[in-house]
Amino acid sequence: MAQEDIFKKLIAHCKEYGFVFQSSEIYDGLGAVYDYGQNGVELKNNIKKYWWDSMVMLHENVVGLDSAIFMHPTIWKASGHVDAFNDPLIDNKDSKKRYRADVLIEEQLAKFEDKMNKEVAKAQKRFGDAFDEKQFRETNPRVLANQKKWDELHERFANALNDNDLAELKQIIIDQEIACPVSGTRNWTDVRQFNLMFGTEMGSTADGALKVYLRPETAQGIFVNYLNVQKTGRMKIPFGIAQIGKAFRNEIVARQFIFRMREFEQMEMQFFVRPGSELEWFDKWRETRMKWHRALGFGDDNYRFHEHEKLAHYANAAVDVEYKFPFGFKEVEGIHSRTDFDLSQHQEFSGKKIQYYDPELGKSYVPFVVETSIGVDRMFLQIMSASYFEEELEAANGKKDTRVVLKLPAPLAPVKLAVMPLVKKDGLPEKAREIIDDLKFDFNCQYDEKDSIGKRYRRQDAVGTPFCVTVDHQTLEDQTVTIRYRDTMQQERLPIADLKEVVSSQVNFKALFAKLK
Ligand code: GAP
Repeated sequence: MAQEDIFKKLIAHCKEYGFVFQSSEIYDGLGAVYDYGQNGVELKNNIKKYWWDSMVMLHENVVGLDSAIFMHPTIWKASGHVDAFNDPLIDNKDSKKRYRADVLIEEQLAKFEDKMNKEVAKAQKRFGDAFDEKQFRETNPRVLANQKKWDELHERFANALNDNDLAELKQIIIDQEIACPVSGTRNWTDVRQFNLMFGTEMGSTADGALKVYLRPETAQGIFVNYLNVQKTGRMKIPFGIAQIGKAFRNEIVARQFIFRMREFEQMEMQFFVRPGSELEWFDKWRETRMKWHRALGFGDDNYRFHEHEKLAHYANAAVDVEYKFPFGFKEVEGIHSRTDFDLSQHQEFSGKKIQYYDPELGKSYVPFVVETSIGVDRMFLQIMSASYFEEELEAANGKKDTRVVLKLPAPLAPVKLAVMPLVKKDGLPEKAREIIDDLKFDFNCQYDEKDSIGKRYRRQDAVGTPFCVTVDHQTLEDQTVTIRYRDTMQQERLPIADLKEVVSSQVNFKALFAKLK
């Protein structure tokens, strides 16, 4: 099945099974704003727990924070967001659709990559085990021609971004013959900058109202609390402050479901270090973060690093962790070496000294910062994309059967255990509820008695429940149940007394955390 079709099915699945709903749906929706349903909120909370505990619980020198969304407006002047938090936009005059110029060019680069990868895949199939990919890439004329086009475009694009040259961005789009996907024409406007911050007013009187912004990143809340946390927590450099919270961006080109939203959630950690040591810490954190992603077991090859074409105004090094979504490799997380830019700016704009006295060096300095920044929603989409499978099953009667299963990592699954009485009588429902009453303090359990057992299994597969337990007449006699494993669909008989340990061994976060060492 084409990747686009899989993505469409995934979006439909998210709605059908209570993961993600369009915001304000009964009023025809609000663009690029989404709500999380009964299963979505559980998965989201588990993602946040995986991140939070791996940062705050596993690192002695990382502590948490929960700062307000509204902040003093001068913060955004100091951080550079008022003047420089812009996207380069271009409109197609025929379709009236608006695009990000940089994204159009990135998609063109991805096309060259795709062509090269297809050549490699074809050759791999032809030559089998004897295939030498490196040699093929260095010698095949079609691969080399596409690589040359990629290199030339990439260099031109990076220069245009770094020089903030909007005319050159437009010229690249014209020279590459990039057409609007809707109208199919190349009738483009000039490229313009567009600020992404949402503004509103605080206070009631017209002349007393203060123009405030909905924060476009959570990081600034950390920077302006640096002194509070450092002093009250007696933190010694190097140390980090972690925060999870909402962020808002007036994304003009909001597409691909929850990949790019106007209201979203970030998990950010600012790590404060000695000046001069930041690139070493940057390397450490990029490896640490990649390990965190790969520990989920979705396949190491589905992740890669992407070095930035253009460094943000505050950074001296930056890299993205990208995942292979159904629509290609895309950013999930950014790791940035932000220098002392933010703290120095806040020092200047607030007039307060923001420094650290380093007892080992015997002097004070403005700390440098390495940031890790990941979107909860984007991580959610990554996990859903990686977990969604449509499987053909061998049915006993010779007919073909299929199932949709979410192979979620067990600790992240919304429901850990479904308990089902085989029939709705003979004391089986009561026994099932007794099991739930015993286990509900340890795991999120669900009781299900409606429809045939087969249908109930399918429903649980579709929301990613790793274990289903069936209570039958034998249970009443010998206190055993049938446990069914989601991924293998194998079943076995177990004493009820063993359930807690069997489920716990799979669903607690310990095994995941052990992989992070
Ligand atoms: N403090 C740095 C910062 O905000 P960013 O690369 O702009 O850096 C970090 O954002 C992460 O936040 C991204 O890697 C992505 O996961 C998430 N993110 C950014 N914009 C988003 C949007 N419009 N919708 C959903 N997630 C978004």
